[in-house]
Amino acid sequence: MAKGFFVTGTDTGVGKTVITAALIKAVRLLGFRACGMKPVETGCKRVQSSEFGVTHKFINNDTSKLSICHAGLDPASSSSLDSRFRGNDNEYEFIDKPFDKRTELLPADGMFLREMADMDDSIDLITSIRFENPLAPLSASEIEGVSVDFSKIQKAYADLSKNYNAVIVEGIGGLLVPIKKDYFVLDLARDFGLPVIVVSRPGLGTLNHTMLTVNYAIREGLHVAGIIINHSRPPEDTIAEDTNPGIIRQISPIPIIGIFPYLEDLQSSTIEKAAAKNLNIEIIKKYL
Ligand SMILES: Nc1ncnc2c1ncn2[C@@H]1O[C@H](COP(=O)(O)OP(=O)(O)OP(=O)(O)O)[C@@H](O)[C@H]1O
Ligand SMILES: [Mg+2]
Repeated sequence: MAKGFFVTGTDTGVGKTVITAALIKAVRLLGFRACGMKPVETGCKRVQSSEFGVTHKFINNDTSKLSICHAGLDPASSSSLDSRFRGNDNEYEFIDKPFDKRTELLPADGMFLREMADMDDSIDLITSIRFENPLAPLSASEIEGVSVDFSKIQKAYADLSKNYNAVIVEGIGGLLVPIKKDYFVLDLARDFGLPVIVVSRPGLGTLNHTMLTVNYAIREGLHVAGIIINHSRPPEDTIAEDTNPGIIRQISPIPIIGIFPYLEDLQSSTIEKAAAKNLNIEIIKKYL
């Protein structure tokens, strides 16, 4: 299997996608073929399939019900199926409704990572599981009546591992975000078997959130490689922002890999330059 990192955060919106892109750049600068992966993404925009990819017709076992699903996705997991959740992971009752529009779910994070890593792989490999509702995967899964098929994630990871020697995986929200009733982002990180990087905010409140995430991950047996403090907004130059990195260094059992600045634009070259300048390459190199 390829090496790489599993990127989690103290919360949603802390900058995991931007930092995953920065890590892809850093690993590539070290001479490795690195790719990105965001295996589960929620809040995906529904678009006409013509804007996105090819669709194929699929006839269910019950041939009276015609469904349309995306190439490579089985109908039970296709996001374009109108289905009703029954409460059982594998059983869905499909509402017999004709489809007049072929639509697909566009994963913004997955697409961004694909661009940042210069990948030409199918988005189905990068983001195998997509939901429309901007919710935790468990919540979106219940509302949309689609269960998370882990075999797809495993297969996508195996395929990417064959073509790349480092896979940088972005998690979903924080470590205790539920994917299934008894399976959390923490479990996904464990199943990937990759060292974890924690993205945290710079301002007030981050000491508690960072330490909760780092210490819980360690207690649960994950290997945490380091913390990246990310400025997802222009610096406010508060006393908390100024003092937090020093305090984290004192109280955290793991190192800070970098303090990533707020970037005026998120172009590939801007992220690459910022990664080269602000991430500790020596720590990253140790894991490759
Ligand atoms: N270093 C940065 N410079 C400029 N903008 C940033 C930076 N980091 C994050 N942002 C912006 O902050 C917002 C949140 O960042 P991002 O999408 O990376 O968070 P996330 O943790 O991946 O969120 P999610 O949990 O939804 O996946 C985005 O609008 C992003 O463009
Ligand atoms: Mg993201």
